[in-house]
Amino acid sequence: MWSATRFLLLLNLHFFSLVAAISQREQPQRPGIKWLEEERSVLVRLETPDLPLWNVENQIGEDLPSALIFNFTLSHDYRTLMLNEVPILPLENAYVPPRLFAYQSSETLTQFDNDPITDYNSCPLFSLDYSRIVPQAEDSSQKYYNYTLSLELDILGASIAEYNALLPANNQNFIRVTLNQADSRETHISLVSFKIGDISLEERGSNNQFQSPESLKTCTAWSWLCADKPGYPWYQYIYRQHFDEYGRIHSMRWLVHFKWATLIEVYGVVQVAIITSAVGIVALSLLGYGIYRISKRAQALWQRRIGDVDAWTAEEEIGGLLDDEEEEEDDDYDRRAEVEMEDWTGSHRQKPLPPPPLPPPVPPKAGEPSRS
Ligand SMILES: *[C@@H]1O[C@H](CO)[C@@H](O)[C@H](O)[C@H]1NC(C)=O
Ligand SMILES: *[C@@H]1O[C@H](CO)[C@@H](O)[C@H](O)[C@H]1NC(C)=O
Repeated sequence: MWSATRFLLLLNLHFFSLVAAISQREQPQRPGIKWLEEERSVLVRLETPDLPLWNVENQIGEDLPSALIFNFTLSHDYRTLMLNEVPILPLENAYVPPRLFAYQSSETLTQFDNDPITDYNSCPLFSLDYSRIVPQAEDSSQKYYNYTLSLELDILGASIAEYNALLPANNQNFIRVTLNQADSRETHISLVSFKIGDISLEERGSNNQFQSPESLKTCTAWSWLCADKPGYPWYQYIYRQHFDEYGRIHSMRWLVHFKWATLIEVYGVVQVAIITSAVGIVALSLLGYGIYRISKRAQALWQRRIGDVDAWTAEEEIGGLLDDEEEEEDDDYDRRAEVEMEDWTGSHRQKPLPPPPLPPPVPPKAGEPSRS
């Protein structure tokens, strides 16, 4: 019995060392890098010389060596690389770069490399400032036979509770992750599934020097994005104080989104929708009215052109009609109205004779004009 168990144990051990040997061949074992799942999930220990070890009980930083732990894992569909559960490549929304977090550990490099995987969930969790470089364009619309993406992640600052630290040390490393296309089908980049091809810790060289938040360009509303780079994904230096949920603070794009959100916060979605649709209706009505006016004018112009003669005839007909009416209703008019009517209708009609100069024998009928 004992020997059987022992044999199984030995077999197991042998089996595991065989697996280890195979994976060693495929993924060279590097200090500070521990694979959790082949080509899919990996833990990285990044030494942070400028970050004190946080004492959770006393809420103070102690001057002891410490490291941040990064868990790079591909999502279930293998299309997105997650860093401690936050999508980091490709980005969900490049205008609002993700907030990154990492646990701090007091493990030494030897402990990390050789001890079984620790549960870091009880460790202090730091919020991070970082530089994110993706040398190859992420959103290329081209199709690739074997698409390779790499990400360079440099941690620039970390904070916990009220404690905030910049991490400019020259001997701090940055992380480089390379993703390879997992299947050889020609697919659009958004549908490519990946495997983690390589991951390494690299020295901050002269090309990857630390940049403090003050050394960056100040952002004003004169710029739409306040981008670090002219192309997608625009931002390289992600300092938390420079970004909020609306994007790069003080950029024009941020201002627009912020004002819009404030509007919705103050008036509510329904009201803003009503106001917007009301404004839309007014604008549409104005547009419609404008079109109506223009078409009316065009119509009028057209009619004036083809109907000059008709129009003249019509005018004369109207004139005649008025003459007839005038004659029928003459009795009801007083003299002044009559004069006006005469002036308007023209001089072809005879003026009524004024009655006084006539001799008395015939008694004059006052107000009745003679008919021609
Ligand atoms: C790493 O992250 C994955 C998913 O994001 C999770 O399932 C796994 O438990 C994590 N491992 C460690 C050791 O934190
Ligand atoms: C793409 O290239 C990498 C390394 O160059 C390789 O590991 C991977 O299997 C390749 N993918 C395909 C789909 O051929």
